[in-house]
Amino acid sequence: MIAATDFNITRVEHSRLKDFDMGNIPFGKYFTDHMLEVEYENGEWKTPEIKPYQPLLLDPSTAALHYGQAIFEGIKAYKDAEGNAYIFRPYDNHARFNHSAERMMMPAVPEEIFIEGMKTLINIDKNWIPQKADHSLYIRPFMFATDNMLGVRPSETYKFLILLSPSGPYYSAPMRIYVEETYTRAAQGGVGFAKNAGNYGASLLPAELAKKRGYDQVLWTDAFEHKYVQEVGTMNVMFIIGDKAVTPRLDEGTILAGVTRDTVITLLKEKGIEVEERLLSIDELIEAYKAGQLKEAFGTGTAATISPIKELKYKDFVMKFDVDTWKISPELKRTLDSIRNSKEPDTHGWMVKI
Ligand code: COI
Repeated sequence: MIAATDFNITRVEHSRLKDFDMGNIPFGKYFTDHMLEVEYENGEWKTPEIKPYQPLLLDPSTAALHYGQAIFEGIKAYKDAEGNAYIFRPYDNHARFNHSAERMMMPAVPEEIFIEGMKTLINIDKNWIPQKADHSLYIRPFMFATDNMLGVRPSETYKFLILLSPSGPYYSAPMRIYVEETYTRAAQGGVGFAKNAGNYGASLLPAELAKKRGYDQVLWTDAFEHKYVQEVGTMNVMFIIGDKAVTPRLDEGTILAGVTRDTVITLLKEKGIEVEERLLSIDELIEAYKAGQLKEAFGTGTAATISPIKELKYKDFVMKFDVDTWKISPELKRTLDSIRNSKEPDTHGWMVKI
């Protein structure tokens, strides 16, 4: 067990915080004074180092740069009005991280490094946690293969790092979404459920083509028939159909088990709304829309939280929504924000105090 005192800590001489404008920050562009870095070799994790944020020196043959043996997580930390800092559901992200690691033939990162490292790092940089609405400290744990070799085999050495990024909202407005029928995010037996770097790299071209057509992102459909809904952009997707919430089920192995997805499902059920996790076809969405039963459509994710979809285009058919009249997803967002800002009691133990 690695106690907090087992971290090697080197602090910056001068914090960059005093020159940083907390009033106007984009998502994921700026980083705090420190980062955490740990090496894995000879089958074990070495002593974690917390040190000034700095570039990495890598051999050009570093395995992750060639074959994408790399995974990550996204987590958020908040500060309440009294200045107490909390991380939202980090144990769930830790479990998912190790699930991704298993799929990518990478070693598990123990809780003493993942959770205690994150807490120790945030504690050092806690003045960087924004307190403005829709802002947070975005936490980016990641791991990559560091063997210097070009053979395709699992690396024997790895680096695990945690970066902290004070961030504003991911999407500033409701999204216009294009239903993707050519490209595929994930197929059964693939890596769709894992948070590996390649899933996101492969999404860039379809997302760019959607942008050229005037849309913000794509709605991913299944690999075989492009008929069943999977995810939206980098988020899970949810629809209010009639008086129920419907979201694609996880058991195909193609869907990321979103922590925000799970949070939203829990809150929906507590608000008395039935949730169905099941196959959901585009045809069903269109029928519901025509019948006036497709009430709300939104993405859920750590970075973007709950992001409304104001337009959904499938072939020549366009579904438009008057987001301002919605009741359920705005109420979910309000509840979630209140829990995260400690304005409502955290009855689920989601907020982990630092
Ligand atoms: C997150 O929501 O944390 C994500 O992983 C999306 C992202 C790649 C910014």
